[in-house]
Amino acid sequence: MIPQDFIHQLLDRVDVVEVIDRYVPLKKKGANYMACCPFHGEKTPSFTVSPTKQFYHCFGCGAHGTAISFLMEHAGMGFVEAVKELAERNGMTVPDDGQAARPEDGRRDRLVEVMEAAAQYYKNQLKTSAKAVDYLKGRGLEGKTAASFGLGYALDEWQGLTAAVADYQDSALEEAGLVIVNEGKRYDRFRDRVMFPIRSERGRVIAFGGRVIGQGEPKYLNSPETPLFHKGRELYGLFENRRGIQQAGRAVVVEGYMDVVMLAQHGVNNALATLGTAITPEHVTKLFKLVDDVVFAFDGDAAGRKAAWRALENSLPQLPDGKRATFLFLPQGEDPDSYVRAAGHDAFERLCDEARPLSDFLFDEMSAKAEPTTPEGKVRLIKLVEPYLNQMAKAPLLARSLRQRLATLSGLAAPEERRPAYGKSRRPAAGARPSQPSPARIVLQALLHKPERLGSLPELADIEDPEVVQLVGIMAVMREHPELADVRGLLEFYRDRPEEGLVRGAAAGLLEWGDEYDSEADLLGAWATLVEQATRRQGHAFAGRKLSDISPEDRASYMAALKEKKLDRLSGVKSDR
Ligand code: UTP
Ligand code: MN
Repeated sequence: MIPQDFIHQLLDRVDVVEVIDRYVPLKKKGANYMACCPFHGEKTPSFTVSPTKQFYHCFGCGAHGTAISFLMEHAGMGFVEAVKELAERNGMTVPDDGQAARPEDGRRDRLVEVMEAAAQYYKNQLKTSAKAVDYLKGRGLEGKTAASFGLGYALDEWQGLTAAVADYQDSALEEAGLVIVNEGKRYDRFRDRVMFPIRSERGRVIAFGGRVIGQGEPKYLNSPETPLFHKGRELYGLFENRRGIQQAGRAVVVEGYMDVVMLAQHGVNNALATLGTAITPEHVTKLFKLVDDVVFAFDGDAAGRKAAWRALENSLPQLPDGKRATFLFLPQGEDPDSYVRAAGHDAFERLCDEARPLSDFLFDEMSAKAEPTTPEGKVRLIKLVEPYLNQMAKAPLLARSLRQRLATLSGLAAPEERRPAYGKSRRPAAGARPSQPSPARIVLQALLHKPERLGSLPELADIEDPEVVQLVGIMAVMREHPELADVRGLLEFYRDRPEEGLVRGAAAGLLEWGDEYDSEADLLGAWATLVEQATRRQGHAFAGRKLSDISPEDRASYMAALKEKKLDRLSGVKSDR
């Protein structure tokens, strides 16, 4: 247990702005600092860090906390680890209360020490080994790049590390996976290999990958699992490319060490590699904490497709709504290393931009299997795709949208679509079939699709139909507060309010319209219905007319009527937010 007093002292010294800025570049805005929130997907910054109050808050997703919680949430540290990290950087020592966990921590520190010593030693050896230098040069690697990734060389000696550590008999060497003990003999695991240090998120060397020079088996020898290193969790390049990833807003996951290194040399500073394992759910969770956009890059051969499919399977349950996973297949026979060397930075970035969305990959693969050209094939497609959609626990909206796609492809309505999805309280306009969206919903949906149309619509003067009244209020909010005039803005604003059902219905409906969808006709049709309805029911002289065309008196009586119905949302906006 770390004493509470110490935590307070520590937080007094720590500057949350500085801590967060190391991971997420912040921009000063007024009294605060802002960035796009690292905890959820957004294009306009709502993540705010207050230097005076020393905490962060995201207006989009509600994430908030202190420097300590930031390190825990964002960098994936444990509480004790986060406190230690901050203390270390601020020249403080965490008091030792002599309780458990200390011996283990001390042991870890010892392992880190020998790993660092080995890394330093390998690095020095590279400078003097013509063989290793020639090999890397032959592969087009520059000294500068090798240095920034801390590459090294392990000599062709059985006990080379004797020169790196004080005591070659130290059991920490075995435990760290540097030395192998076999039938009483101790010898170096890595011999005559180019060494790639694998660093933790904090930059400590926790493992190595060693490449044979030229031909040989195994091509890469990796550190075993140790108390420092769990390969299903680590990503090569995370420490080196963290800033590049943050700046690009996108991470590219590749298969090999050399891919990451060579991409960086060509200015692609947002690549990461798994360590000879498939992409695990843990990797995926970590990636989506870091960015909104993840590109999985694979070789274009059969093995690459298989690996990609595994990545898809492991991503589905971890993929949050609003984030994007795409798949990139390199041309036959190429990997990112060879491709970027031949085609260059821009060509590689273009491949990333054009990578295939996870949903397309899923449907293409399953359609190829099911051949949905016959009724049997269509049913087969449903049977194949459904189990995958059911796994998308963190992306209910995307799953819903994909169910609709499945329904279209198979010609069979998804069972969910038969139930009214939202808003038990909301009744569709009289006479309309329950499954058909109401005109008010269509109007809102069209406005969310293209908010710029708001300006072209006149005021609507129906104060009877409750849903239309809600729509009028929502449109007023959108006009007055453009920053709220998108799906998330409105969803947040109307959370737990009567309008929530309408907003959610429109948001969900929006998923059926792609960006390219032409919603103009839907909008005009629904709008005409509303105007006609209002005119018929109210006999209002100014129904459907521009507000500016209406006399001030009529306008006043209209506003009064609205107020009387307690629907003046605008005042609500100003006072609440
Ligand atoms: P590849 O066989 O595709 O090699 O392995 P590569 O990355 O293109 O390597 P170079 O360009 O020939 O140097 C991809 C990754 O799989 C792991 C390594 O992490 C490697 O980068 N791997 C491969 C191993 O762990 N062991 C091996 O023997 C081979
Ligand atoms: Mn390669």
